[in-house]
Amino acid sequence: MAAAHDAAAHAYAPYSHYPVGAAGLVDDGRTVVGCNVENASFGLTLCAECALVSALHLTGGGRLVAVVCVTGDGTPVTPCGRCRQLLYEHGTADLLVGTATTPVALSALLPDAFGPPDLKNPDLKNPDLKDR
Ligand code: THU
Repeated sequence: MAAAHDAAAHAYAPYSHYPVGAAGLVDDGRTVVGCNVENASFGLTLCAECALVSALHLTGGGRLVAVVCVTGDGTPVTPCGRCRQLLYEHGTADLLVGTATTPVALSALLPDAFGPPDLKNPDLKNPDLKDR
C-alpha cells in the first residue's frame, strides 16, 4: 500500500482529480507500480493498473501474486471491471486484490473469467499464456 500511495503522487489526473496508484507483488519478489494517466478525450484514460501491467513486462515479466490500488489519500480502490480482466491475464491463479477491508481473490471479483484459452489460437509458445 505504501508503494501504491507513492505511485499515486505521480498520477496525471487533471480531469477527475482522482489520482490512483497501483502496486503489485510479482512471483519473483519484485514490486511493480503504476499510476493513472488521463486524457482530454476522457475515453483514452489509462488506469493505474494498465501502467502496472506495462511495468510488469518492462521489468522482466512474471505473474502478479498480489495487487493493491489506492487513491491520493491512501484509501484502497477496488479495480474497475476492465482492470479486473487485465489483472486476470497477468496474475497467478490465486491473485489477491487489496480492498478497503480484507484482500480478496481476483477469482471472486471476476468469476468465470474469459481468457486466452477461450480463443482459438493463443500463442501457446508463450508460457505466460498457457493457463490463463
Ligand atoms: N482509475 C484507476 O486508475 N483504476 C481503477 O481501477 C479505477 C479508476 C482511474 C481512472 C480515472 O483516471 C480515475 O481513476 C477516475 O475514474
